[in-house]
This record gives sequence, structure tokens and C-alpha cells, in this order.
Amino acid sequence: MSDTLTAASDVTADVPEYPMERDARCPFAPPPQMLEMGMAKPLSRVRIWNGTTPWLITGHEVARELFADPRVSVDDRKDGFPHWNEHMLSTVNKRPRSVFTSDAEEHTRFRRMLSKPFTFKRVEGLRPVIQEVTDQCIDAILAGPQPADLVTKLALPVPTRVISDMLGVPYEDHEFFQHHANVGLARYATAEAGQKGAMSLHQYLIDLVKKKMENPSEDAVSDLAERVNAGEISVKEAAQLGTGLLIAGHETTANMIGIGILALLENPEQAALLRDSDDPKFIANAAEELMRYLSIIQNGQRRVAVEDIEIGGETIRAGDGIIIDLAPANWDSVAYPEPEKLDLSRDVGQQLGFGYGRHQCVGQQLARAELQIVFHTLLRRIPTLKLAVPFDEVPFKHDRLAYGVYELPVTW
Ligand code: HEM
Repeated sequence: MSDTLTAASDVTADVPEYPMERDARCPFAPPPQMLEMGMAKPLSRVRIWNGTTPWLITGHEVARELFADPRVSVDDRKDGFPHWNEHMLSTVNKRPRSVFTSDAEEHTRFRRMLSKPFTFKRVEGLRPVIQEVTDQCIDAILAGPQPADLVTKLALPVPTRVISDMLGVPYEDHEFFQHHANVGLARYATAEAGQKGAMSLHQYLIDLVKKKMENPSEDAVSDLAERVNAGEISVKEAAQLGTGLLIAGHETTANMIGIGILALLENPEQAALLRDSDDPKFIANAAEELMRYLSIIQNGQRRVAVEDIEIGGETIRAGDGIIIDLAPANWDSVAYPEPEKLDLSRDVGQQLGFGYGRHQCVGQQLARAELQIVFHTLLRRIPTLKLAVPFDEVPFKHDRLAYGVYELPVTW
């Protein structure tokens, strides 16, 4: 039975509220209160919007163990699940089950449908495309006026173009596809515009799945169409999975590119190391360290315990909510000495920015390839790149699922 609700009545007023804000004066760091909690112990109670008090996991080791523990569920219909907000709670039975909210065999089934486009071979095959798109964006920046906004000119278009190539969107439809994919992500989009964008995109994907059922090629929508032909899923489900990939893989990577460039500009000696390196291992480690340092997914990975779990000196009871926050776990000084230092040469090992265990990011190899190519190419091609506004005027996304910057004006 759930301990989360009963515990809410006897916890004292000093249980901190979650989520917590990052400090505008140290915008790369996790929220200071969370770091303090993490120094005291790897897990503690927090209070969320509905008054319940799930566990907040801040320690790296405990986070890894719980991510991999089959007694921990992502099923948001279970009692005690710590929903993001009232809207998510009230729609829980209306939303179709997905890769994000299913456990065990059901999850394996969804994962299998998504695995083919993300094999090492397919992703490595996309590297020339990523390089070409990156170079085209940088050509346009160099040919255009200064200052230039790197969010609209580089951070957004690279993942949009790459994901549409990966899904297999015909070249003549790129413009339509990019436009509708971006409507929902635009800062001032109305709910109606966002809804319209999502609907047109979904319909577009339904048509595309049908086309690929007749004429498949080497791309992700063709893989899904193959599953439809085999009777494993419906056309609508395939379109839903395709739209899901687009949304999960698009804004996240774009934010990581934008804020990653800013972190490099603020650490010029580290940026110089990356610019001067030709070693693919160093370039890969640098992207990984930026993932650790920035840990952009900021509303915590939500879970619920299905059995009692003894961990970190505490007992998580069956039915207790669990929130694993990646940022403090990636700044745990036991795992990473001097975590506040961006050190591209450190052994970054098992950073948790893509999660861990069976739900870890499906698209991580693709995201890694994009980050490695974009950071390295940009520093090489525009070595004099600098911020065009004072650092404290850069607008950060404190209010979004993925942390990042709204704009990044630069000169060179
Ligand atoms: C820098 C970019 C990215 C970051 C920081 C990121 C982060 C994450 C994290 C933390 C999770 C784990 C969720 C959990 O355990 O609850 C996740 C899962 C997922 N990601 Fe990513 N991601 C990125 C890029 C991508 C891309 C490019 C794609 C696809 C094109 C993608 C598709 C997915 C999917 C489908 C899942 C669900 C996996 C599952 O539940 O089994 N992500 N991502």
C-alpha cells in the first residue's frame, strides 16, 4: 500500500518543495538546494504539487541502482506514481501506453520496434549527413549578418534535418515537415497552433507509413511500415511511434547543442582543447562531459516502487513515488571529483544524462554523433566565436522539460 500519501500527513513543514529552480547566477549548476540535499544523503523526501512526498534521488550510485531495479516501475497508472502535474494525472487513462510508460515485456515490445533505426551501423551511416548539414548551417552563418542567433541557425536545424533524414521524409517534403515539427516548439506558439501542428504531423506520418508499406527503403518509417505489414502494429500506432521519435529526439538535442556551445564559450581553455584535438576518443569524451555537466532533462525521471527496497540507508516502501533527478546525480562528488569543473579530459564514465538501465535513451548514439560533430566543427570553423551579449542577458529555459537557452547571439 502507498506510503507516499500517508507519509504526507506526518511529514513536517521542512520537507522541501520539488521541482527546485537553478540559481540564475550559476545557471549551469543543478539547483543549489538539491546539491545540499545530495551532500547529506543520496535520497530524501520532497513534496510535489499534490502534497505527496515521494523520494528524490540525488546520489549517482543509488540513481543507477534504482534505474536498473525491476522493483521500480514507470507505469503512471499505479497508485503513488509522482505525476508531473494535475493535467498528467487527469489524462493518465486516456493516453495510449508507450515506450516511456510500460514495464517488462510490454516495454520490450515497444523497444524492439524502435531498435532497428538506432543500430550502431545505421547511426554511423548518418555521420556524413550530420557533417554536411552542420557545414551548410555554418556556411549560412558565415555568409549572414552579425550577430547571429546560433539557436535558430544551428542548434535547431541540425537535429531537425537529421531526424527527418532518419525517418525517411522525402526531400521535397522537408520544408513542410520542419515547419510543422517546429510549431509546437516555438516559444510563442498558441495551444491551438501547437495542436494543429501535431495533428498535421500525425496525419503526414500516417500517409508516409502507408507509402512506405508499398515502397520501403532504409529508414525508420520503413521499419515501422514493415511491422504494420507483418500485422504487429496498426498504421496509427506506427505513426504515433514516428511522431514520438521526432518529439523525443528533437528539442532535447537542440537544447543540448545551444547550451553546450555556451558552456564552451564560457570555458575557453577547454574549448581550445576540443578545437585542437583530432582524437575521436577525446571528442567523444568531451561531448559526454558536456552531457554530465549540463544534465539538461530537468523534471526528474518519475517512477513508483512495486516492492519494498532497502537502499542508501532508507527503506522505500511499495507504492512510494520515486523521482530520479539526473543533474545532482551527475554532480555527485563521490562519482566526479570537483563536479563543478567542466573538464573535457576527465574520465566521465557512466554519466546519467541519457538515463540508465532498460529505459535509457533510445536515441543516445544519434544524439552523441550530432553533439560530437557540431561542437568540434563549429570551434574549428569559427575559432573567434564569442557571445554578442553579456552572459547574464542570455535567456535560460528554466520553465521547460529540457533546459537550454532560448537564444544564443554570437559574433566572430
Ligand atoms: C541530447 C539529447 C537527448 C537527451 C538529453 C535525452 C535524454 C533522455 C533520457 C534521460 C531518457 C530516459 C528516460 C527515463 O529513464 O525515464 C531518454 C529516453 C528516450 N529517448 Fe532520449 N534524449 C536525447 C535524444 C534523443 C533522440 C535523438 C531520440 C530519438 C530520435 C530520443 C528518443 C528517446 C526515447 C524513445 C526514449 C524512451 C526510452 C524508453 O523509455 O525505453 N532521445 N532520453
